[in-house]
Amino acid sequence: MTDTITIKKPFDAHVHLRRGAMLRAVTPYTATRFDKAIVMPNTDPPIDTLDAAIEYKNEILAALQHSNVLQNVRTLFEPLMTMYLTKGLTPQEIERAAIGAEGTKIYAVKSYPYGATTNSQWGYRDILEAKDVLKEMERVGMPLLLHGEVHLNEHGEEEDPYDGERLFIADVLPRLLETYPKLKVSLEHMSSAQAVDFIEKNGKEGRLVATVTPTHLMYDRRQAFSGGYRTLIHMKPLVKTSDDRERVRDIATKGLPFVFAGTDSAPHPESKKFSSCCVFGVFNSPVALELYTQIFDELGALDKLESFVSVNGPRFYGVEPSAETITLVKKDWQTTEPVVTDEGVKVWPICNTVHGLGNETIHWQIKG
Ligand code: DOR
Ligand code: ZN
Repeated sequence: MTDTITIKKPFDAHVHLRRGAMLRAVTPYTATRFDKAIVMPNTDPPIDTLDAAIEYKNEILAALQHSNVLQNVRTLFEPLMTMYLTKGLTPQEIERAAIGAEGTKIYAVKSYPYGATTNSQWGYRDILEAKDVLKEMERVGMPLLLHGEVHLNEHGEEEDPYDGERLFIADVLPRLLETYPKLKVSLEHMSSAQAVDFIEKNGKEGRLVATVTPTHLMYDRRQAFSGGYRTLIHMKPLVKTSDDRERVRDIATKGLPFVFAGTDSAPHPESKKFSSCCVFGVFNSPVALELYTQIFDELGALDKLESFVSVNGPRFYGVEPSAETITLVKKDWQTTEPVVTDEGVKVWPICNTVHGLGNETIHWQIKG
């Protein structure tokens, strides 16, 4: 039985760090566990220019310099910045961002379908309308990250939220790939059997990749509805059936070079997360690496963990996997406390004993 594993320091291909007090509170959890992370741009206002991304990056780095959590921890954490595919994003900005004008390179552009999730009000209703920007991204090799859900039909009416990803895979993604045959595309946070089937068939290193969250590996909708609706695991895409989860687990642990970890850690204040119309987003950076390891162990795939969490992501983004390592040990623990911002706001991670599904125990921990 393996009870310790040492891997290259991981790469988080999808994280929300927010801004201000929330950013200061959550960023150290990513920075101490991950070597680099692809930072999502759906802040308010959105990050859709190179200058805004530079300012945002500086805020992240400044927060780390003053962090208590990082005292005595040497960290070389590097945030890799992205831009939001808003109507204001121009082909000229893509060109500047791709060459790293002003010393900062932009690693990807993120598409949120209008109205689908947190701060998605600036997204396109139909991504294929963004012709000039997509063409320029294809030309310069800038990856497009997809929140792959159809949220509204052609009459502007709500689709069934459990069907959003399936509809996107059946209709939008094939047209996008066909129209832009050289565009680098990542389907973020795969949650359904249909997404898994599509990626298994069409995934290709450097062309079409997909990320997987710990939430979609851990839970299915039976848990989401156990003893009342569990808002802590409420996110977009929604967690789906146990069959969907099995398919996501299956593709994640296969050792495919075009599938890798993106935590989608998305912190929200306690007051919003537990309100009657609770916000979408799961905060998981304090437990994500431990949960990935736990699932890979459960499925007898620990030999595939390093490529999934530490190697395939950097390769897609053209950066080196970490030269540092991190060790995890198989030892039970529980997370009982929220993270608290310097303004006194609580943020609860998944899998904790207070708001989790019950008395949840995590079976792996980072060697301290
Ligand atoms: O659940 C989600 N939360 N899905 C997203 O796509 C966005 C994220 C957030 O920013 O809160
Ligand atoms: Zn996200």
